[in-house]
Amino acid sequence: MLRGEKIGLRARHEEDVPILRAELYDDVVNSSRAESAPWRPIAPGSKDPRLVVDDTAQGHVPFSVVELDGGTLVGTATLWGIDNHHRSAHIGLGLLPSCRGKGYGTDVVAVLCHYGFVVRGLQRLQIETLADNVGMLRSAERNGFVREGLLRSSAWVMGEFLDEVLLGLLARDWKPEPKA
Ligand SMILES: CC(C)(COP(=O)(O)OP(=O)(O)OC[C@H]1O[C@@H](n2cnc3c(N)ncnc32)[C@H](O)[C@@H]1OP(=O)(O)O)[C@@H](O)C(=O)NCCC(=O)NCCS
Repeated sequence: MLRGEKIGLRARHEEDVPILRAELYDDVVNSSRAESAPWRPIAPGSKDPRLVVDDTAQGHVPFSVVELDGGTLVGTATLWGIDNHHRSAHIGLGLLPSCRGKGYGTDVVAVLCHYGFVVRGLQRLQIETLADNVGMLRSAERNGFVREGLLRSSAWVMGEFLDEVLLGLLARDWKPEPKA
């Protein structure tokens, strides 16, 4: 398991799946905001890759996020789009609604940076998020990500086009404990 200050990133367990499906992916608004594809229901037993891990998919590493104190499941985190030529990847995360606003998101980004830069030897990490997602923007910026661009009207979300922000962090600029 990878450890931060408050949370750990471990492998997906079978018992995580119904919780993540019910609390994250069955929520139409949350899913529509967090995913780049239209919401559709996930049937019980589905092998949807957001829930069931395919260990042979080399470019995509999904984790379950747990509290270090007690091991309770609090969300998902993914290093995806891993490109071993350009040595870059993207970061994604989603916390259960009751687990937001407690500093976990900032900690998850820190641990994913450690995984990307130290364990995988990448040189660039990237995040795309909706321009109004203050929690995600702050979690990224607290870890040293900088805003590199605004993608105007790039996301169709529940009946309207919204802007997305592109953030990047280079290994040479990363400071493992930037939180003030
Ligand atoms: C976005 C998300 C990962 C952030 O994680 P979090 O644990 O809630 O964030 P933190 O508690 O670490 O907060 C980080 C900062 O953002 C601020 N913040 C968090 N949620 C906020 C909100 N809804 N509105 C305004 N500020 C917010 C915090 O006050 C904190 O600010 P600080 O750095 O000045 O202290 C989480 O809210 C989430 O999973 N949301 C739903 C899914 C999602 O949006 N995923 C990202 C898709 S790209």
